[in-house]
Amino acid sequence: MNRKYRKTVIAGNWKMNKTPSETKEFMAQFKTIMPKGRWCDVALCVPAVCIPAAVRAMRETRVGIGAENVNANPSGAYTGEVAANMLVDAGCKYVIIGHSERRAMGETDADVNAKVLAALEAGLIPIMCCGESLEQRESGITEEWVAMQIKLGLAGVSEEKIRKVVIAYEPIWAIGTGRTATPEQAQEVCENIRAVIRKLYSSKNARAISILYGGSMNEKNAYELLAQPDIDGGLIGGASLVPEKFVQIIEAANQPTV
Ligand code: PGA
Repeated sequence: MNRKYRKTVIAGNWKMNKTPSETKEFMAQFKTIMPKGRWCDVALCVPAVCIPAAVRAMRETRVGIGAENVNANPSGAYTGEVAANMLVDAGCKYVIIGHSERRAMGETDADVNAKVLAALEAGLIPIMCCGESLEQRESGITEEWVAMQIKLGLAGVSEEKIRKVVIAYEPIWAIGTGRTATPEQAQEVCENIRAVIRKLYSSKNARAISILYGGSMNEKNAYELLAQPDIDGGLIGGASLVPEKFVQIIEAANQPTV
């Protein structure tokens, strides 16, 4: 983390877990134990039907609610889809885009790019995900692969808008597996991502953008991961479903930095 130049963001990704009633319960518990005082930005990205309950519960807090996907079109004949302006109107601040689980369902880099542009246009903060498979890591192409995802995903994003984007590096082999990247592995890729942003935009923008790590981050390993200079927060799946664990990760993000 480097709080002097950029925000620290701890974001939960609930995936397809919790009903609206369970959302209400979680938020009530979370509110009673939320760290007070100076802390990082906190986001909870929840299933679409849980957004109203989450927004209502967190109205008077600094926790931002987010969606887990968005359709790139502004409106129209897209049965079952949700547009960016609908998420904004429902009270969302964030949206996860290009999660590897969605990419596995067929989402391409071009789709991710269109969604990032639509989210920014509507005023949402896109949390754009990237990351390599185990096979790609083992064949030594992690850096090139992730750089390509970043370039394609950010195509057409202007200088003025780039600082609104949050990037999440999530190695696929670490997601939901309990197998976390080591702090050094995660730092190396996040540092490379920042170098890609520097080339595409400027050093100033590269310094200002928040890059999160995701993949089995939990209350035990968060402190060490977040102590890395280029890891500006976390995108947390499993551990964000339990208020106590999520709070401990937020506390790890409040550690002193250089
Ligand atoms: P995990 O999920 O923390 O359960 O590994 C992370 C994610 O997929 O965003």
